[in-house]
Amino acid sequence: MSLTDDILSQPTFDAAIRTAVTGVKGMKPTYDWVGIYLLEEDVLTLQDDHYLGQPTVHTRIPLNSGICGASATDGETLVIDDVHEDGRYIACSLSVRSEIVVPIIAGERLVGVLDLDSDTPAAFGEADRQELERVADALARAWQALSGE
Ligand code: SME
Repeated sequence: MSLTDDILSQPTFDAAIRTAVTGVKGMKPTYDWVGIYLLEEDVLTLQDDHYLGQPTVHTRIPLNSGICGASATDGETLVIDDVHEDGRYIACSLSVRSEIVVPIIAGERLVGVLDLDSDTPAAFGEADRQELERVADALARAWQALSGE
């Protein structure tokens, strides 16, 4: 079963998130940290079981902060080849070199962001972006089907 089908066959949105995180983390060894922040009262919020990788202190990110906040605000995927060159970057781990953030948008509604960090510089190319945008789209559809909102 493809990851998108697997996400869409989960019984709850929480299970869909955990399925996505596990599936994406296993795609490539350079995907060192994979997590999904959900928008809760204008703050991107990370739950304990919604990421794989090193624990982070940044579990609540306001929309005007970080690469995550910028991607969520603009509704666009951001690919950062060198996080040390981007003043918006909030460091989760000193080893991180590159990052991609993909917004999860259901209709007009921003549900959250899919965030990946890599210890490899420029780890995220066009193929990675396309695959991760498909995952974010599956999560948006799962949210529409399962959130009850
Ligand atoms: N680097 C992110 C913060 C989250 S950590 O990567 C897990 C940012 O700048 O928004």
